[in-house]
Amino acid sequence: MAKIFCTKTITESSFKSLEQKGHEIVTWDDLNKGPIDRQTLISSAKDCEGLITMLSDKIDEELLEQCPNLKVISQYAVGYNNIDTAATKKRGIVVTNTPDVLTHATAELAFALLISCARKIVQAAKNVEEDKWKGWEPKGFLGKSLKDTTVGIIGAGRIGSSFAKMCHGAFDSNILYYSRTKKPDLESDLDAKKADLKELLQNSDVISLHCPLSDETKLLLDKETLSYCKKDAIIINTARGEVINQDDLIELLEQGHFHSIGMDVTTPEPLPHSSKLKSFENVLIIPHIGSATETARKDMSDLVCKNIENVLENLSPLTPITY
Ligand code: DGY
Repeated sequence: MAKIFCTKTITESSFKSLEQKGHEIVTWDDLNKGPIDRQTLISSAKDCEGLITMLSDKIDEELLEQCPNLKVISQYAVGYNNIDTAATKKRGIVVTNTPDVLTHATAELAFALLISCARKIVQAAKNVEEDKWKGWEPKGFLGKSLKDTTVGIIGAGRIGSSFAKMCHGAFDSNILYYSRTKKPDLESDLDAKKADLKELLQNSDVISLHCPLSDETKLLLDKETLSYCKKDAIIINTARGEVINQDDLIELLEQGHFHSIGMDVTTPEPLPHSSKLKSFENVLIIPHIGSATETARKDMSDLVCKNIENVLENLSPLTPITY
């Protein structure tokens, strides 16, 4: 029977089938002890055949070297940039992730961030909470209308496409997308147009990031590319913090660029108390809650467990990453 280590508390009922088959699952008690530290992660993973990992766990050569029995890493996220896949491939370790089950939740969150930024909802709520609101004013908290806007999607995979559909349906938005491959469904259903990065940034009122973090997308938005954006553009990032060069973003914000920025992800996470990014009224930062709905998190838990179970039984996992 296999030993499985899970680095954070997930939905406990998802372990049932693994437990019934006699596997031992140990979960790090993050709720009482906080995030697992590196050395404890390595020592806890050492004798395991399965690992359930989070996007905050660095899975690299140093760790894998010490886990000779490891057969499967089941990542509780769709993104897996925290895992050195060259190193897992070399060792024949199966890596799985959780696509599909969190698509709608993450697109919804991007959509919520967009409306919150455009209509200054958090600033307005804070004003009421702090008893600063004096009464209805014709010019109070004027936002940016999203009707008929051009929305640029960077990374038109499942989540980006779902977000594009929401914007097209809700605001009659024109959709531009930046992607390696053509998306015939987006083009036929939403009349979306494939664009190169510069064209997309220059023409979009809203830019939403949905690409995985890779060598190609790391710091994709830097001083040069960010300066192509319209001066009153809204940028939404629910992908990974590292896709944007934050220092360059801060510099442009200081120069008065951008209507607003909505960030579910930052570099690092959490941002230090002193981060300048927190000082801008028009930057809304939330704590990486893209997939945080009860349904998505339950489905993610079920999927990570099923993937482990299948690999331990020499069956194909449901959602392997492709090497
Ligand atoms: C993921 O699954 O990669 C998301 O970032 C979680 O919100």
